[in-house]
Amino acid sequence: MTQPTWPAWLPLRKDLLDLSPYGAPQIDAVARLNTNENPYSLTPELVNALVSRFEEIATTLNRYPDRDALALRESLAIFLNELSATDLTFENVWAANGSNEIIQSLFLAFGEGTALGFTPSYSMHPLIARVTRTPWLEGERSPDFSVDIAKAIEQIRTHSPRLTFVTTPNNPTGTSISLDEISQLASAVGEIGGLLVVDEAYAEFSFLASAITLIQKFPHLVVIRTMSKAFAFAGARIGYLAANPEVVKALLLVRLPYHLSSITQAAGLVALEYRAGSLATVDALRNDRESLAKELVSMGIKVVPSSANFLLFSVDDPKKVWSDLLEKGVLIRDVGLSGYLRVTIGTPQENALFVEALRSSIGGRT
Ligand SMILES: Cc1ncc(COP(=O)(O)O)c(C=O)c1O
Repeated sequence: MTQPTWPAWLPLRKDLLDLSPYGAPQIDAVARLNTNENPYSLTPELVNALVSRFEEIATTLNRYPDRDALALRESLAIFLNELSATDLTFENVWAANGSNEIIQSLFLAFGEGTALGFTPSYSMHPLIARVTRTPWLEGERSPDFSVDIAKAIEQIRTHSPRLTFVTTPNNPTGTSISLDEISQLASAVGEIGGLLVVDEAYAEFSFLASAITLIQKFPHLVVIRTMSKAFAFAGARIGYLAANPEVVKALLLVRLPYHLSSITQAAGLVALEYRAGSLATVDALRNDRESLAKELVSMGIKVVPSSANFLLFSVDDPKKVWSDLLEKGVLIRDVGLSGYLRVTIGTPQENALFVEALRSSIGGRT
C-alpha cells in the first residue's frame, strides 16, 4: 500500500504521519485464501436462528444494548469451561468487536512503559501499540520460528514490559508454544508486574490444551480468543478475552459505552448455541491442512509445521508467485517475510485450485 500524503492544515499526530492503513488486499478472487477465514458458511440451522433472532431484536433497536454484554460473556464462559474444564464466570470474560478491539483495550488500559512481542507474529500487536503510543520491543524467534524461552525470560527481566505478547498457534508461522513454556513466561511476567497476553485466535485448530487452563494459577495471564476463525463468524466481529476478574474490571475503564451492539451480542449468543455445527468444520480443516502440507512437500516445497488453519511455505520469489496465483484467481498472503508466503486452508476445491496454480507458477521446481 502506498503511503498517504496529508495536507499541511490537517492536525494529524506527527507519530502517525508515516503510517499506512493496515489491511490485507480485499480483492475479488475465485479462492480467497489470504485472511485465515473459515471457508465454510454458516449451517442453515444457524442462519435460520439468526434471522428469527434479528427479527425480534429489530423491535428493540430504539434502546441501547446491554453495556456489559453479560449474557454473551456468561455464554462464552460456559463454552470455555466446556473446552478446558475450568470454572470461569462472566467476571473472567470480556467481549468486543473482534479480538483486535480486545488488543486495543489492553493497550488503552495497561499500555504504559513498553510492550514486547516475538516476531514474526501478528502484525497488529505492534501496530496497535504504536497507535496507542506504547513503545514496542521486538523479541526474536529462532530460525525454526520457535520462541527461545530462556532468551524471552531474559528480555522480560531486562526490559520489564507492561505487556508481553505471545501468539499460539502463531500467525503467520503456525507454530505453537507449550503450556509449560507459557507457565514459565507467566511466572517471569508476574515477577516484573506485567501481563502476559496469549493470543489464541487459532486455538481450536490446535491439539494442544488452551492457556485458559492456567488463568486461575496466574493472575498475570490474559488469553485472547475470537469467533472469527473456527466459528466461521468473522463478519460478526466478536472477539473475547479470559483473565482474572481484576483485568476485566480494568477494561471497563477504557471501553466505549455500548461498544457491542444488540445485534452483535444476539448474533454471538445464537452462534454459541449452534456451535456444534460451526465447529464441526474444524476437523475437516485440520485434515485438509495435513493433506495440503504433504502435497506441498511432495512438490519439493518447505512447509512450516502448522497447528492453525493456514500454512507458511517457502518459495524463491514470493512476489512473483503471489502475482502468478492471483492471475489464476487464487489470493494468498505475502506476509512480508523474506522467502515465504502464507495460504489459508480453504475448501478442497479451493485447495486444489491453489495447488494447480502454484505448480504452474514454480514450474520446473516440482
Ligand atoms: C493472531 C491473531 N489475533 C487476532 C486476530 C484478529 O481477529 P479478529 O479481530 O477478527 O477477532 C487475528 C486475525 O487474523 C490474528 O491472526
